[in-house]
Amino acid sequence: PQFHEAPASEQKNPLIFPPIQSLTPVRLIMRTHHCNQLRTSDIDQSVTLIGWVNSARDHGGVIFADLRDREGLTQVVFRPEENAELAASSHTLRDEDVIQVTGRVARRLEGTVNEKIATGEIEIVATALSIINKADVLPFQLDKELSNEDLRMKYRYLDIRRPRMTNNLRTRHRVTKSTRDFLDEQGFCEIETPILSKSTPEGARDFLVPSRLQPGSFYALPQAPQQYKQLLMVGGIEKYFQIAKCFRDEDLRADRQPEFTQIDIESSFVDQKDILALVEGLIGRIFQEAKGVTIPASFERMTWRQAMDQYGSDKPDRRFGYHITDLGAVFAESTFKVFSGALQSGGVIKAINAKGFSNISTGQVEALTQLAIQHGAKGLAYIQVRGETVDTWRSPITKFLSETEIAAMKDALNIETGDLILFGAGPWEQVCEILGRVRLACAEMQKLLEGNTDLNFLWVTEFPLLAFDEESNRYVAVHHPFTRPIKEDEEKLLKGELSTDLRANAYDVVLNGHELGGGSIRIHEAPLQSAMFKALGISEEQAAEEFGHILDAFRFGAPPHGGLALGLDRLVMLICGEQSIREVIAFPKNNKGNDLMSQSPAEVDPKQLRDLRIQTTAKKP
Ligand code: AMO
Ligand code: AMP
Repeated sequence: PQFHEAPASEQKNPLIFPPIQSLTPVRLIMRTHHCNQLRTSDIDQSVTLIGWVNSARDHGGVIFADLRDREGLTQVVFRPEENAELAASSHTLRDEDVIQVTGRVARRLEGTVNEKIATGEIEIVATALSIINKADVLPFQLDKELSNEDLRMKYRYLDIRRPRMTNNLRTRHRVTKSTRDFLDEQGFCEIETPILSKSTPEGARDFLVPSRLQPGSFYALPQAPQQYKQLLMVGGIEKYFQIAKCFRDEDLRADRQPEFTQIDIESSFVDQKDILALVEGLIGRIFQEAKGVTIPASFERMTWRQAMDQYGSDKPDRRFGYHITDLGAVFAESTFKVFSGALQSGGVIKAINAKGFSNISTGQVEALTQLAIQHGAKGLAYIQVRGETVDTWRSPITKFLSETEIAAMKDALNIETGDLILFGAGPWEQVCEILGRVRLACAEMQKLLEGNTDLNFLWVTEFPLLAFDEESNRYVAVHHPFTRPIKEDEEKLLKGELSTDLRANAYDVVLNGHELGGGSIRIHEAPLQSAMFKALGISEEQAAEEFGHILDAFRFGAPPHGGLALGLDRLVMLICGEQSIREVIAFPKNNKGNDLMSQSPAEVDPKQLRDLRIQTTAKKP
């Protein structure tokens, strides 16, 4: 007997991907079929199945057991009239026991067909049972959603038995498989780079690994394979990719883990449009093969400045409107101090129209105001547009507005009865960011995106090259120090004419408000790279010490090159419709960075520390 899959057309709940198959099916000795395979066309066949008891029920001495493997469920019935001894031993079956059953495929009695499962028209009348391994009572039921995430994580191997988790991990496999197929077809070569490596600045804190052979020296785990992939370009590889593990010691969130995976790509002899086209093709292939949907062949583009101006975010969610509108012209002569003050100090006045949200509650107004205050505003002026005329409006600021201003504002924001207008006044970037957050919060409060299945892809380009860090009083790289300025701004960098207006040849790909990936065209010339280090306040000695290998490499004929990295976990999360990347990682950390199953991080044997010449002063929490 061979393991073969029923054609998708025969499956009631076909998986969106075929089960993992090899070209020559492997002979499977322990079973003749999997648990999502038998149909009415198999009636009267003798078969052997193996798996877990999903549930066992006693119906007047007849035991019914649903047998589960990763493909699905098949009902097995033990009838005393067929085999009394067997039926008696089936009474001992408990949930999650591992059993092997041989029997005859039979049509289910009328009225007992289970429409919910693909094998629901048949059952196996058991003729032999082998209890392979008994299971203790599980710490939680597998067929119920469990809100206690700690418990799920402690027994992650049980959690993974749930179809939702199994399917997420199998979808993840589909995504990496499609990635490898696609990039291979495009001539890319997968090359591994070191995990024990040297610090590379991606903006997060490094994880360090002490060296035993050189006490006092440390490896850094890679935040990304950035320098290695550029050095592979100097090495003449031309087209590199890697499904790469990356490590960043930063505060964790739903879409951030301390160790995560990138689809990391680099190519020589390309410009921005080549990379964007390649990545569009790759993402298209992934969505086709892992989700069964066709996405647009190319994604819309928007510069960082436009994105900030209109959406107040460098990863705008464009599945709904509420654009940020500039009201500088409308309020140029305003007598309202908040507005006139903002303009006088070189700032802006902007607003969003949250359509149909005039019935916002006082508590919600307060929550939005707090959000604005947290991000640096002094308040959040608003208008609840409850009718045609201004006297019906609820607002702390309409008294400061002239009739002309109101008319112009109505026009600019397309104000209608039922709308809610929210204002920001102050420095451009701060106002954009605050209204961007307020915009998302309104959508959340109004449940605008509930049930929304749109896939809105977007490229954000021309990120700033430099940001100014007030704390250290110097410029820092917005992306990383190997990112090239756009052609128009190269001279300025070389001449040291620094400002946050310098634009980078950097791009992010965004899906539904999530940053899926980012990359850039790189600096490949030693003089420009030196100028960049200088701009970042990195001295020549420091540059030579930390990045000498890169500067050296650039002296020996470095090709022009560029690339990008996609966050694999985020991509799979969005494909699976999950809210957290923990749902698509087999063994993730919780938001304190702990693995509750293996109990790591953990103290180590003092001898190990002695070998490493490490003393700790930390007390166990
Ligand atoms: P960047 O730092 O933007 O670029 O990372 C690329 C993508 O990786 C994902 N990502 C994460 N996912 C989960 N947990 C994290 N902690 C985490 N941090 C980042 C995001 C992000 O878009 N070397 C450059 C790429 C390049 O220039 O080619 C880099 O690492 O989806
Ligand atoms: P005030 O004149 O300080 O009482 O503010 C009047 C209204 O303007 C209040 O609703 C404040 O929340 C709001 N407000 C104050 N500062 C700002 C600002 N920078 N941007 C937007 N609204 C503001």
